[in-house]
Amino acid sequence: MKYVSYKDLQPGMCIARPIYGEDGQVLLNSGVILNENYIARLYGNGIPGAFVLTDHDEEVEVPELVTQRTRQSVIGHVKHVFESIELGKTFDMTPLGESVAAIVDEITANPNVLINLTDIRTFDGNIFAHCVNVCILSIIIGIKFNLNELELRELAIGAILHDIGKISIPPQILQKRGPLTQSEFDLVKRHTVNGWHILRNNNGIPLLSAHIAYQHHEQPNGKGYPRELLDEQIYLYAKIVAVADAYDAMTSARVYRQGMMPFQALRVIRQLREIQFNTTAADFLISSVVPYPIGTRVLLSSAEIGVVVDVNIEDRERPVVRLLFRADGSKYHLPKEVDLMREESLRIVRSLS
Ligand SMILES: [Fe+2]
Repeated sequence: MKYVSYKDLQPGMCIARPIYGEDGQVLLNSGVILNENYIARLYGNGIPGAFVLTDHDEEVEVPELVTQRTRQSVIGHVKHVFESIELGKTFDMTPLGESVAAIVDEITANPNVLINLTDIRTFDGNIFAHCVNVCILSIIIGIKFNLNELELRELAIGAILHDIGKISIPPQILQKRGPLTQSEFDLVKRHTVNGWHILRNNNGIPLLSAHIAYQHHEQPNGKGYPRELLDEQIYLYAKIVAVADAYDAMTSARVYRQGMMPFQALRVIRQLREIQFNTTAADFLISSVVPYPIGTRVLLSSAEIGVVVDVNIEDRERPVVRLLFRADGSKYHLPKEVDLMREESLRIVRSLS
């Protein structure tokens, strides 16, 4: 099976893993053959993509960090909280708190799992999916900082609601294709302060979680916003969410651009690690995310094309690749796997999917 993002799903593809809606109901079961109606239904439910069966040669087992069921149910609860706040209604934090705790539990049960593309890549800048991604990445970084379960939950709640202040910013500014004017940017910056006010007034939300909304655009060099805080004035939670937020923003597609591939986004984080981020948090993210995730098609330096079937923990830039096509474009009829840890003359030039 392989993961296919929404825009690349085609009628005739066969669903390999069940797809769950926001309230946990099964939208499409495994074995279903996609048609235009089903694809439209996935879009309508904000589903970023699906696992589909593939040609036998590309068949790989993709590990799941957080189950689709948990992910979709959290997305539903975040959406509910956003909508309630937007309408000025009171809401109960309990369901969201419980589903966030479920994410923490699933990740802490398997803390060494590396983050594959499919765990977090989204489309269309779906704000709720983005919130969940930032939450997942933050928990993984938090575990590396040895945070305890209570701290991880505080971090996770703040991470999932870090952009709640955006509800008061006009969507046409948030989705604007071109560069923002100074006054538009000033307005966007306000989402931090707005978020702080919204969260600190809710009894179900720890104060430290509210600080995440306030501080997640601050930078240790004092050049962040809204208060240009210095390193020692910024909470660790906010430093963690800042890196997670930046990574997810880079890899997520927007209406006006494709998302970066993980290896490209990792490169940017590496370049900015001492400038814009807490270096330890950046390093923890870099060491948790797989640059060439399992299931990714890659172009090798030999001009052969293959699919990543396993990741080497010692050097994640050099995974095990199953060769699919020779340099002349002809297909390999017998699957041949190369471990790039052993084949030192070979390297990955770039990913193709
Ligand atoms: Fe933000």
